[in-house]
Formats: sequence, C-alpha cells, structure tokens
Amino acid sequence: MKSLRDSNVVITGAGSGIGRALAEQAAREGARLALCDWNEEGLRETVAGIGGSVLHEKLDVRSDEGVRSFADRVERELGGAHVVVNNAGVSVSEHVGAMKREDFEWLFDVNFWGVVRCTEAFLPQLRRQRSAHLVNVSSIFGIIAVPSQSAYNASKFAVRGYTEALRQELADTAIRVTCVHPGGVRTNICANGRQYSNLRGEPTDVKELSENFAKLARTSPAKAAEIIWAAVRADAPRVLVGSDARFADLVQRVFPTRYPAVLRGFTALLERATGSRV
Ligand SMILES: NC(=O)c1ccc[n+]([C@@H]2O[C@H](COP(=O)([O-])OP(=O)(O)OC[C@H]3O[C@@H](n4cnc5c(N)ncnc54)[C@H](O)[C@@H]3O)[C@@H](O)[C@H]2O)c1
Repeated sequence: MKSLRDSNVVITGAGSGIGRALAEQAAREGARLALCDWNEEGLRETVAGIGGSVLHEKLDVRSDEGVRSFADRVERELGGAHVVVNNAGVSVSEHVGAMKREDFEWLFDVNFWGVVRCTEAFLPQLRRQRSAHLVNVSSIFGIIAVPSQSAYNASKFAVRGYTEALRQELADTAIRVTCVHPGGVRTNICANGRQYSNLRGEPTDVKELSENFAKLARTSPAKAAEIIWAAVRADAPRVLVGSDARFADLVQRVFPTRYPAVLRGFTALLERATGSRV
C-alpha cells in the first residue's frame, strides 16, 4: 500500500497511545477513518483532536457481535476497509501461580481473540480491495519472554504466530500483512492494565509500575506510529519499533536460549540509570 490517501482505515484501541497517534497521522495523510475503543471518553478525545466527521464507535473487541456489527457499519458507511490495524491491547503483570485465571482470560480475550475477531470480521472487505493491508500489533514480548509477563507474552507470541500463518495464506492475494513488535512506548498501557508483581516477583501496583515504565520506555506514540505507517507503505512483513526492540530482537537471535541473562543485565543498568524498578 503506497499511500493511505483516500483509503478507509480501521483502528482498534484508538482512544489512547499508539492507536490515537496512528489515527492522527492517517487523517493527516488523507485517509478516511473508522475508529473504535471501549473507552468512550478517550475515543471522543481522539476524534475531537482530528476534527471533522470521523466514523467512531464505542466497541469492546471481546464482543463477537459488537465487532461484526462495527464491520457491517464500515461496509455500509464507507464501502469497506482497505487497512485494518488490530491495535487494542491490555497488560497484566503477575507471576505464574499467583496469576488469577480471570486476569489471564481477560487479557487473552482482548490481546489475542480481539485480533482474531476483527481479522475474521474485516477479511471479506479486505479481499475485495485492489490493494489492502492488515496490521496486527504484537510486541517485542512476542519475540522475547520475561518474568511476570507470562500471560502478555503468551498472547503476543500467539498474535505473531497467527499473523505469520495468515500472511502466508494471503500471499497470492492483494492483502499485505504486517506484524508490529514495539519496544517500550510511552502510553497508558500500564495504567490501563492489571499490575500485581514486578519482574522480580515483588508486589507492585498500577501507579508504581506506570511511573517506572514511563522512565524506561524509549519511544513516543507519535514516533511509533510513524514507524508503523512507514512499514505499511513499504509492505514490510514485520516491524520492530524502537532501538530497545531492535536490540532485544538481536540478542534473542544471537542467544536464543541465553538472551534472558543478557537482557537482565541490560535492564539492571537501565534501572540504575533511571532509578526505577520494573
Ligand atoms: N506501550 C508499549 O510499550 C507497547 C509495547 C509493545 C506492544 N504494545 C501494544 O500496542 C498496542 C497499543 O497499546 P498502547 O501502548 O497504545 O496502550 P494504551 O493503553 O495507551 O492504548 C490501548 C487502547 O486499547 C483500548 N482497549 C483495550 N482493551 C480494549 C477492548 N477490549 N476493546 C476496545 N478497546 C480496547 C484501550 O482503551 C486503549 O485506548 C497494544 O496492543 C499493546 O499491547 C504496546
């Protein structure tokens, strides 16, 4: 997809962070937007910031029916999607054993099944376009795993596997597929999640973890969105967002089993430099 101009772009989780920045930049490039988020207030702020009339809907990507009816609305009102960005996501920090099944299932229902629901709902529309693009947001935690992130890691590895299989299935169509792996991006991801335990298994809370994460996250949402849209324009199958993601990916490839020790040392240095504990 060479340009977003005049294309219909669907973005989930557009009420905050990376989703909002993606929406703002796509609007500036001349795309028609269809935005959704379960946070109505955040979504309204995004739409107000963009100005003009933007199709938007309060939507929980955990709802089969809600996602199907949103896709129908995009078909009816815009004539179908050219680009779909499955961006909505949540985080949970807890160690295995202490993890509540309810939290694990909540996260998976958003991060993995949300991606599956939206992909299935919009795929028929994408198939009808002369040029179309599906963007699934995984994470650097879909490439490396860390303590306290077992549920998040599992969901983001699952998004990556699903996306890489789908890319092969769609190779002979006009739909290109990009899997996005951001490193730390300064958004509300921690504050919007359920945080109980840090990397070391020490108790933490949403406020503490959010403050520490903000000190360590390297990339702004605007920069992340720029990198993601550049990857879409280049039809890149995979994009690493931020120097931390590129570094962690490299370490994982060079030390496929020993990367945790290398990255632990690096994280300890960063924590000392910033006076934070994640
Ligand atoms: N921020 C990071 O460091 C980082 C790193 C790697 C990957 N990611 C991924 O990037 C994506 C965007 O996250 P972000 O960092 O912008 O966080 P964010 O919390 O700022 O934004 C996520 C948005 O998704 C929405 N959302 C959550 N659950 C939803 C649901 N069930 N239905 C509809 N909307 C829902 C939230 O309301 C929020 O507006 C997520 O998939 C996240 O996992 C973020």
